[in-house]
Amino acid sequence: MELNPCRNPVVGSMRPPGDKSVTHRAILFSALAQGESAVIRPLVAADTLASRRLVESLGVRVVEDRDRWILQSPGPGAWPAPAGAIDCANSGTTMRLAMGMLAAGPETRELQGDPSLSSRPMERVAAPLRAMGLEVQTTAGHAPVRVHGGPHHGIDYLMPVASAQVKSALLLAAVSGSGPTAITEPRPTRDHTERMLQAMGARVECARRVITVWPSSLRPAVVQVPGDPSSAAFWAALAALTAGSELTLENISLSPRRIGFYRVLEAMGARITIKETSAVPEPVGDMTVRPGLLHGVVIAGGDIPDMIDEVSLAAMVATQAQGETVISGAEELRVKESDRIHATVESLRSLGAHIEEQPDGMVIYGPTPLHGGRVNASGDHRIAMMLAVASAVARGPVTLDGEESVAISYPEFFAQYGQWAQGRGL
Ligand code: S3P
Repeated sequence: MELNPCRNPVVGSMRPPGDKSVTHRAILFSALAQGESAVIRPLVAADTLASRRLVESLGVRVVEDRDRWILQSPGPGAWPAPAGAIDCANSGTTMRLAMGMLAAGPETRELQGDPSLSSRPMERVAAPLRAMGLEVQTTAGHAPVRVHGGPHHGIDYLMPVASAQVKSALLLAAVSGSGPTAITEPRPTRDHTERMLQAMGARVECARRVITVWPSSLRPAVVQVPGDPSSAAFWAALAALTAGSELTLENISLSPRRIGFYRVLEAMGARITIKETSAVPEPVGDMTVRPGLLHGVVIAGGDIPDMIDEVSLAAMVATQAQGETVISGAEELRVKESDRIHATVESLRSLGAHIEEQPDGMVIYGPTPLHGGRVNASGDHRIAMMLAVASAVARGPVTLDGEESVAISYPEFFAQYGQWAQGRGL
């Protein structure tokens, strides 16, 4: 698609799409709780539809009623026999969380994915599940994976990587185990699973970096899905970069584990104000972003989990900031939907950015004017949207290939972007 430079200020209020992580969990966890759960304002996108198909294969009946999905689950004791492999498409969250969930049923189930998902590491989940006494097979460390549900015990596990997906898979398996499980994270990651399991009646204790969960029988929940700070971040970046902007993101998750990108934007010089409207079960509220004189910052390993899906966007913003931005400790980005370090560096450099690739991050020297050119999203929704923001600040037209990947998390993105670019507001 052709994207033209655009300096329209980003003014007004918007309600970003539903949070992807919360929607996945609300859908998936419903299969573990016999009875009727509800998800209010779910994200409807390719990734969360993969989770929906997965629970439907476990006998969950999903009915859509205006802005909510009602999920009627038979409970793990009555999951039907498997009818072929379950397709998780591009969704790492679906596959990894399901690996833990499927421990609860007595059957053997196979999970498969598209070529991108099949290239991502799965032993990080399989190995600790085996340590719990489960039989799990990967295909040379990748999908397809097979999980044999059945009796298993608790473990004490020190996670080698900071990953909310791995943590969540283990917590889910632990719920149907025979004793407590304690998981220690190298760095805190998003805690939606802990909070949602508590709301569903599980005994979960969180003390610093250790999460302990006891075998529990879960009751159905009604989950209100807040706006997704990861999807809203593209608009926040545009507002921070464009003179005259004043953007209010309504009803977004303000979980400290999710808004690291906004802290970085503020440290760079953007002006951000936050109004929390509710704290339970997760902090939610409105955030207003205004531009400022942006300068380079240091983004280190400890900052990364709280902005794991926004690092490429931070690098793009840094191309327009005064001075050097150093991003390190971000090697996990190499095993996302694409190798995001490489995809970010190559695409931004081809538009004129002064950016260097490092094994665990990148260094950006700004400000550099970006010029037009041809770039590819590398099959990665977050790279596609980052490049749309880059094309707005560029001085010539950008041809973006692979824009359809936004269907993974934000199907309406380019329609909204086009409306803004035509001066018709948000
Ligand atoms: C997610 C965790 C993160 C994130 C992904 C969603 C989740 O992945 O990148 O988009 O919902 O738990 P990792 O756990 O692999 O870091």
